[in-house]
Amino acid sequence: MPANSTRIAVVYHSGYGHTKVLAEAVARGAGSVPGADVALIPVAEAEARAAEIDAADAIIFGAPTYMGSVSAPFKAFMDSSSKAWMGQAWKDKVAAGFTNSASQSGDKLNSLMQLAIFAMQHGMVWVGLDLLPGNNSSKGSTSDLNRLGSFIGAMAQSNSDAPPEEAPIESDRKTAEHLGRRVALVTSRLAALPLAA
Ligand SMILES: Cc1cc2nc3c(=O)[nH]c(=O)nc-3n(C[C@H](O)[C@H](O)[C@H](O)COP(=O)(O)O)c2cc1C
Repeated sequence: MPANSTRIAVVYHSGYGHTKVLAEAVARGAGSVPGADVALIPVAEAEARAAEIDAADAIIFGAPTYMGSVSAPFKAFMDSSSKAWMGQAWKDKVAAGFTNSASQSGDKLNSLMQLAIFAMQHGMVWVGLDLLPGNNSSKGSTSDLNRLGSFIGAMAQSNSDAPPEEAPIESDRKTAEHLGRRVALVTSRLAALPLAA
């Protein structure tokens, strides 16, 4: 990896493949920024790849919404991060989040709030979504970016009986891609102006 690269880790869980599609879109967006080096890390590999996570300049967290909160495997990863927390290993890293659920709302705001609070506990710098809400006027449609109207992070919706090839829809994938690119851009700007110790 070049010495001046910006390292972005995308850590995610996906039970049935929908959130994995989003994670790949986030990684694609981050990777579109010159100098960005992206690691896509399923939570099942997080322990083995802890060094990659700890070395990242930004960590983007993604989980499906299960029972109104992040999925249990992702929560287990959150709890296991207490070791990094003790050493403040993620302090001042950039953070962002994305989630996906079957219902249009599905209470997924709660999942993004969990992720943001989690990042704050680690002393991270949370980056939200800089897209105006789509699909909220007579001129809008589900093809609009940010069609679910979130500012805290990227939201997506997948019909529960649709395979990951079909859901989430393209606009949700593009929204996730946008978030990844934004995080990489913000991170590279911050790297040029490091926070004081
Ligand atoms: C245990 C469980 C709980 C769920 N709870 C919710 C929920 O609270 N709100 C919702 O809209 N969808 C809920 N769903 C649907 C999932 O969020 C949806 O199927 C999502 O696309 C799964 O993402 P994944 O394929 O990445 O696992 C739930 C699914 C499961 C398996």
